[in-house]
Formats: sequence, structure tokens, C-alpha cells
Amino acid sequence: MASILVLNGPNLNMLGIREPGVYGAVTLAEIEARLRKLSVSLGAELSFFQSNHEGALLDEIHAAYGKRDGILINPGALTHTSYALRDGLSSVGLPVVEVHLSNIHKREAFRHTSLTAAVAVGQIAGFGADSYELGLMALCRHIEGGRTNA
Ligand code: DQA
Repeated sequence: MASILVLNGPNLNMLGIREPGVYGAVTLAEIEARLRKLSVSLGAELSFFQSNHEGALLDEIHAAYGKRDGILINPGALTHTSYALRDGLSSVGLPVVEVHLSNIHKREAFRHTSLTAAVAVGQIAGFGADSYELGLMALCRHIEGGRTNA
């Protein structure tokens, strides 16, 4: 059974309240419940962590080394700013799938760059809460197939 760490970065605890026109009305707790449901059919075991602090996210990524099979992450705005998060993800050498509720590529220019995508297997953006479910499916298939980043 694949063990997956689901990470959420800054401000994602505010989903449901935060800019519903952009991010929808769904809360992070609802997203987690949907992922838990999906994980049963995928045969995956999930653990969840959200933080507004870059260092706390890094500690959690480091702790995943040797314990988890992959990381599903929405880094929030750290996507666009954090070399440390990018390096942390590449440090542990686990397959990473990056997800975003919004399509970051059709929003403000500063959101068009993802520093973390370069160390991810792939990125799913623009499908609202569904991005997480699509991302989890993609990550589990990648892990099962033992595929590399190539
Ligand atoms: C986001 C997109 C980011 O640009 C933004 O800073 C977020 C949410 C998304 O899920 O669409 O916090 O990652």
C-alpha cells in the first residue's frame, strides 16, 4: 500500500472563506475527506499536513524520507517564491505531484512561474478541488508503475 503525504502550504487553511470566486467554496477539510474516500479505491494510505510556515513544511518533507512513497503538494504562494521548498522536495528524492485549485498560468504573471514544478513528476492546475483528486490518482499510478521523471 502506497503511503502518501498530502501537504498544503500558506493560506490553504482559509479555503471556503478565501476568494471563493477563485478557489471555490470547498474547505480544506472537505478536500481531505474526498481524498480519504478516493484513497480506499487507490489502495493508498494518506497523511495530511497544512502549515503557513515554510520551515514547518520543510520539517514534514524531511520526516517523509524513508517513510512515505510520495508527496502530493499544494505549496500555495510558496510555489512562486521558495527555493528552500524546491530544494527540500528534491532532497528527499520522493515522487512529487504539485496541484493548484486555480489555473496559475492564466492568472497574474507572478503566478506563472513554479519553482517547485521542476522537481515534481508533474503539475495539475485549474480544476478546483478536483485537482487534488486528479493529482492523487496520477501520483499513485506513477508510484505503482515505478516510473521515473523521464
Ligand atoms: C494556489 C495558487 C497560488 O498562486 C496561490 O498563492 C495559492 C493557491 C492554488 O491552489 O490555486 O495560495 O496554489
